[in-house]
Amino acid sequence: MIIAVAGKGGTGKTTLAASFIRILKEENAGSVLAIDADPNSNLGELLGVKNVSTIVDIIDDISKNPGQIPPGMTKDRYIELKVQESLDEEEGFDLLTMGRPEGPGCYCFVNNILRELINKLMGSYTWAVIDNEAGMEHMSRRLVRNIDRLYIVSDASAIGVRSARRISQLADELKISVKEKFLVLNKSNKETLKDETDKTGLSLELILPLNDEVSEGAIKGKSIFNLKTDNSMFRLIRETSFMDIFKKKPHKLKNR
Ligand SMILES: Nc1ncnc2c1ncn2[C@@H]1O[C@H](COP(=O)(O)OP(=O)(O)O)[C@@H](O)[C@H]1O
Ligand SMILES: [Mg+2]
Repeated sequence: MIIAVAGKGGTGKTTLAASFIRILKEENAGSVLAIDADPNSNLGELLGVKNVSTIVDIIDDISKNPGQIPPGMTKDRYIELKVQESLDEEEGFDLLTMGRPEGPGCYCFVNNILRELINKLMGSYTWAVIDNEAGMEHMSRRLVRNIDRLYIVSDASAIGVRSARRISQLADELKISVKEKFLVLNKSNKETLKDETDKTGLSLELILPLNDEVSEGAIKGKSIFNLKTDNSMFRLIRETSFMDIFKKKPHKLKNR
């Protein structure tokens, strides 16, 4: 099952993606591939991964030392092998991090490598959780063509909700197959902005209030696994349909 998290910058995408990963781990739900597709990578940090290796770093290293490519092997193939080798393997999940490419041409190249890799790797995992970059550009790069659950996160602002609406529309226009789309209102107390949220046409799946432990954890650079198990954020996520998906006993992801 592929879970993707999108939304405007700073709304809480990475926090939500990391929370999903923590819950999947706690539930022993199967193997998890965490994908940080945000060039401003911080999913690894929030998951407590030390020394995150990024695809961009690997490409840079190979470009600087092309002599390491074995004779008869294409550069792209070698990059793929190296990235696969350097997947961060943690307890409960593996992490694939894109990193920040320099220049628009590089962007496209790194994205193609990431897309190919995701396609290849998916067959080996039960879950993929993708933390996307802010905005909508990533949508048009179509890292995956099939998303089972797309969570669009907004903060308690009209701009955040409108941005969520545009992301949702873009997902439709691009004909990415999305089985279910959800709106998440983060750092929000009650169903504020009802007019705006209604206009998104999305189901309001989750409202997460400002959470002191999350804010403090961010200040201290703590990982999501350092938060208390009974933190209300996890409880609220656990009260949503997210938990129903375990009951369906998903099979390994298909290579698509
Ligand atoms: N419910 C919340 N309560 C308090 N702080 C939060 C909450 N959700 C996110 N944050 C904080 O807001 C900041 C942005 O969150 P982040 O998940 O990095 O957003 P994004 O990935 O969308 O840019 C982080 O410092 C994070 O700790
Ligand atoms: Mg983020």
